Amino acid sequence: MGQLFTSVSIGRHTLANRLVMAPMTRSRADDEGIPGDLVAQYYAQRAGAGLIITEGVFPVAMGKGYVRTPGIETDAQIAAWKKVTEAVHAKGGRIFMQLMHCGRISHPSLINGATPVAPSAIKPEGQAWTPEGQVDYVTPRELGLAEITGIVNDYGQAARRAIAAGFDGVELHAASGYLPEQFLSSGSNQRQDPYGGSVAGRARFALEALAAMAAQVGADRVGIKISPEMNFNSITDAAPQETYTYMVEQLRDMNLAYLHVALFGAGVDYHALLRPRFNGAYLAGGGLDQATAEAMLADGRADAAVFGGAFLANPDLPVRFRQGAPLNTPDKNTFYSPGAQGYIDYPFLSATSAG
Ligand SMILES: Cc1cc2nc3c(=O)[nH]c(=O)nc-3n(C[C@H](O)[C@H](O)[C@H](O)COP(=O)(O)O)c2cc1C
Repeated sequence: MGQLFTSVSIGRHTLANRLVMAPMTRSRADDEGIPGDLVAQYYAQRAGAGLIITEGVFPVAMGKGYVRTPGIETDAQIAAWKKVTEAVHAKGGRIFMQLMHCGRISHPSLINGATPVAPSAIKPEGQAWTPEGQVDYVTPRELGLAEITGIVNDYGQAARRAIAAGFDGVELHAASGYLPEQFLSSGSNQRQDPYGGSVAGRARFALEALAAMAAQVGADRVGIKISPEMNFNSITDAAPQETYTYMVEQLRDMNLAYLHVALFGAGVDYHALLRPRFNGAYLAGGGLDQATAEAMLADGRADAAVFGGAFLANPDLPVRFRQGAPLNTPDKNTFYSPGAQGYIDYPFLSATSAG
């Protein structure tokens, strides 16, 4: 047995193992952004992870970008999430909430008829998932300076509400082409003010959002996810190595709980580039299996390994890894479909470990 099953410190928490469940949107909330009992069951089934990171959750209604995604804005949403955190804690698990503001990756029909917002009025390629099916993205509205301050504050307040709902911490979703990465990347940010231009300007929004979250709940309960060169959701950057090197160097002295880096076929080994520049726990993800995860832990390239599809399809993934048991295959057709099928019905190895 390798290091996956040793404990690790992440901010103020000690995790029982180094297997982290990746944040995964599953679109099982209701139209009010409220997660129901199925959601609590889904996460409780996966409480054997050292840490669960939830699906992306919108901090405010304007941040919603997909049909049936959950929020952390209203009292009803907080109350519903309390059931989730209680269910996970009852099984000895730990759970962080991922805060996801989608910015331009949204559609008026998801945000009460409003125009999606972004650093610059540049329309992304592709289509939004709306209640009416898939529709082309629209040209977003460029945010004003006062609005940016407002959204930064929204992240802080959402972090406070997540802790009130019983979460062990919060993760800023600064990956996958959503609002923080729209600011960070030169292709989607053409601002001439302090939130654009140089890499320092483009990184300002994400850094201020993190600072707002840390001010509310303590930096040792705040993490950040980045995905350099993922090239998803029309994100392009003229000099990604420079951008992410700068970004991570700014994170150094914030004493965050962790830096989570997901890689998808980037041309450069960003783990080798970024890990030495960060002084907290380093979570690596993207296409890992047990052997590649163990190898990363063994040679010090990461402190914990993040699994997406494998955790989605294997609620008892840690048990399966320990026993060398075969894995269930994720069913893409039910990733975002409503209801229990493909959500809480992936089989456990044995009935005794079912949760
Ligand atoms: C169904 C599905 C939904 C996802 N939703 C999110 C999300 O809400 N937030 C996020 O940061 N990443 C999301 N991801 C990406 C995962 O967090 C992870 O980075 C990716 O699946 C790579 O890990 P893997 O190869 O182990 O699956 C999603 C992935 C899948 C499969």
